[in-house]
Amino acid sequence: MAESPPPERKFYGRRRGRKLRVGRARLLETLLPRLAVDLPPDGQELDWQSLFSRPTESLWLEIGFGAGEHLLAQARSHPDTGFIGCEPYINGMSTLLAAIDAEALDNIRVFADDANRLIDALPDRSVERCFLLFPDPWPKARHHRRRFIQPESVAALARILRDGAELRVASDDAPLIDWMLCHIRRNGCFEWQARSSADWRQRPDDWPPTRYEAKRLHGPPVFLRFLRRPRNNTHS
Ligand SMILES: C[S@@+](CC[C@H](N)C(=O)[O-])C[C@H]1O[C@@H](n2cnc3c(N)ncnc32)[C@H](O)[C@@H]1O
Repeated sequence: MAESPPPERKFYGRRRGRKLRVGRARLLETLLPRLAVDLPPDGQELDWQSLFSRPTESLWLEIGFGAGEHLLAQARSHPDTGFIGCEPYINGMSTLLAAIDAEALDNIRVFADDANRLIDALPDRSVERCFLLFPDPWPKARHHRRRFIQPESVAALARILRDGAELRVASDDAPLIDWMLCHIRRNGCFEWQARSSADWRQRPDDWPPTRYEAKRLHGPPVFLRFLRRPRNNTHS
């Protein structure tokens, strides 16, 4: 069956929720501009190493960090790793900024827009680990092209991930889990790491929980780990 055309580059989620408290709103004006990743002009690559105040060999990326609890926990446990968190929902962004400010974390940078735009600017083989945790399921068939995982986004992730890099994906929505597994495996650049059902039913110890996991809105959560295959063994 022919693929439907690539999705328009339009963000369909919420950008704003409840009115922010004064302190949170102030952080958006003061701290966000200091931590925000500015994209280079079209066609140029983002010099991600220059974003961080200390030399950083390894870049980890979180797509749709929500309120940021997973991103914060990873950044605390890996102080020498540079992190970029993407989240267009400004209330979630303000929650993350409040924690970064309180703890003076210096290894997180943020992108307050569609992660696809950031991914397009990242160089080939630049990312060591990528997290996509409880992405929006968009259950109606006519909205499936709004799901983050699409053939094009998986190909883009395969491009920016280093050989052997890890892609971690979680969801509690069975149809979305099938969709993501199908698209990621069909791409051919990723090796699913599951050997037994425990590998996808249990969250690994070094994988902190998120707010959406706790909500269990749709069913039991599933945790998927993929490794980016070395390029000499694949077509790309
Ligand atoms: C269901 S929430 C999950 C939040 C968090 N990962 C968690 O597990 O609690 C999905 C999040 O992805 C964000 N999101 C949706 N599309 C996105 C995109 N294209 N780029 C970056 N973030 C996106 C939404 O704003 C939302 O905060």
